Amino acid sequence: MSVPVITIGELSEHVGNEVTVRGWVFNWRKKGKLRFIILRDGFGYLQCVVFRPEVDEPTWDAAVELTQESSLEVRGVVARDDRAPGGYELKVTGLTAIQVAPEYPIGKKDHGVDFLLSHRHLWLRSKRQHAVLRVRSELEMAIRDFFHGRGYTLIDSPILTPAACEGTSTLFQTDYFGDQAFLSQSGQLYLEPAAAAFGKVYCFGPTFRAEKSKTRRHLTEFWMVEPEVAWMRFDGLLELAEEFLSEIVARILDRCSDDLERLERDTSLLEPATKRPYPRIDYADAIQALTEKGYPTRNGDDFGAEEETALASLYDRPVMVTRYPAAIKAFYMQPDPDDQTRALAVDVLAPEGYGEIIGGSERSDSLEHLERQIASHDLPKEAFEWYLDVRRYGSFPHSGFGMGIERCVSWLCGIHHLREAIPYPRTLNRIYP
Ligand code: 4AD
Ligand code: MG
Repeated sequence: MSVPVITIGELSEHVGNEVTVRGWVFNWRKKGKLRFIILRDGFGYLQCVVFRPEVDEPTWDAAVELTQESSLEVRGVVARDDRAPGGYELKVTGLTAIQVAPEYPIGKKDHGVDFLLSHRHLWLRSKRQHAVLRVRSELEMAIRDFFHGRGYTLIDSPILTPAACEGTSTLFQTDYFGDQAFLSQSGQLYLEPAAAAFGKVYCFGPTFRAEKSKTRRHLTEFWMVEPEVAWMRFDGLLELAEEFLSEIVARILDRCSDDLERLERDTSLLEPATKRPYPRIDYADAIQALTEKGYPTRNGDDFGAEEETALASLYDRPVMVTRYPAAIKAFYMQPDPDDQTRALAVDVLAPEGYGEIIGGSERSDSLEHLERQIASHDLPKEAFEWYLDVRRYGSFPHSGFGMGIERCVSWLCGIHHLREAIPYPRTLNRIYP
């Protein structure tokens, strides 16, 4: 009978049997006639024990020459062993080195983050980075399932666009056959027409902001999920955001416990976010709370990272700050009917200093209002005619929000800087690798 090739994740089904596993040397040590090789294959870690008297010469020779991150194929008998990492051990019967690696750049010693980022392509193999990106992958599936399960149609928005969506100061420009084009800052403007066609839509893709700031919360390329719902008013939007966040956090806690444990994440700090309702605080009350805490923030100001952290620290779960001054928000927002100087906007702030993870609003459904806004924001009206058509042909109330995936991953994983929450981060001074 041929020996099955399996992954480390499948070991439990093969206890007592001989199997082949392929992977890389995570670590190794020797003790007399024994070689212990910790193999990783992307699914887990497996201690492989090579005992010289029990293997042929080529196997022993191969085992001896292996170095960290060498690739290999190993055959052996699976044994349960509670002391071994992962709970299994492989008693090696045969081993072939596929490639013996020269000295691996990422060693045991502490490397600076710049060095690690320059070796991001290799850093991905480390336990921590692996855990973070597994959480990210599960989160993206949770998000897709959330919307798909509720009848939303996925509308992929374009990346090359003729105009700004979220302000003109963070636009990446590119040449488009002699014309100017921009990398998309948000898919929202393209979702609004689609909401009229499909009712409930979402997009999920990369977005770009030429952020000149070097903060831990900003990337120049990040992924955003954006739902847009026809006939939904502001209150419905707040409920949607709350339902969405609580459900995806619960799924991560449920399915990623191993990864979160590896990251030493205190999950008791995430538990409250699985429960509804989330607190809501009006912008004016937020200003007052900040004033009481001694912040110099004035009515009309936007919140910086510190203010967001201070506000969020008043609660044990994400807080929804509502009705910001229209002047500090994007052009497309619906004015508050009770106070035209304010917008029906919401920012959802995560606890523990992670700041704004969701930004959303009800959208203006008035052609005249939007025309005025486009003019006062100095936006080129020609580039928005198609967007204005949504108000010309069957205007309708609608609302939506956007959540930055890396902000959410950072919060869930408890990591300090967004750059570890995306496989290949792009920041003000990094586009390599
Ligand atoms: O608040 P923002 O700018 O909102 C929009 O783009 C809307 N068009 C979304 C919508 O209503 N459909 O961005 C939304 C979210 C933020 O809350 C934040 O999580 C994330 O995107 N984000 C960033 N993440 C990483 N790096 C940056 N530079 C980010 N800018 C925004
Ligand atoms: Mg925002």
